[in-house]
Amino acid sequence: AVERTLAMVKPDGVSGSHVEAIKTLIRDAGFTIAAERYWHFSEAVAKEFYAEHSERGFFPNLVEFICSGPSLALILEKEHAIADWRLLIGPTDSSRAREEFPKSIRAKFGVDSQKNCVHGSDSRQAAIREIALLFEQDQTAKKSMQH
Ligand code: CMP
Repeated sequence: AVERTLAMVKPDGVSGSHVEAIKTLIRDAGFTIAAERYWHFSEAVAKEFYAEHSERGFFPNLVEFICSGPSLALILEKEHAIADWRLLIGPTDSSRAREEFPKSIRAKFGVDSQKNCVHGSDSRQAAIREIALLFEQDQTAKKSMQH
């Protein structure tokens, strides 16, 4: 069955002008881009998006990084979209990606474990939650989350 996943080009990827190259890789891999929207994360939305990492030592830096500039959120559709997008982006650590998955997006455009250029939902539950958070709330709800 066709699945949806939440992909995101993080601030390092947007500011590094990698958006068009990444969209080409997305389409060449057979995904349909069902929706896209630039999103400059507020601290509140960033903390909610990354809630599962809230106890990790890197969490404060992660929130600061993700709020540092605009990100591009995309809804991708295809069979096995969730697993296939995770494969295409490669491991979290961009250096490891370069060693082990040199064709992955993080190998090509990522900097390190934090500035790793792209995000992908890691499960169906996460995809549903992340798409709802970034695409399905009305503007009023978003505004109130940003204050
Ligand atoms: P992602 O897999 O999209 O979601 C969690 C993010 O936390 C991850 O990408 C990185 O941006 C960040 N992250 C994960 N591990 C580390 C780490 N060891 N140091 C800094 N940031 C990290």
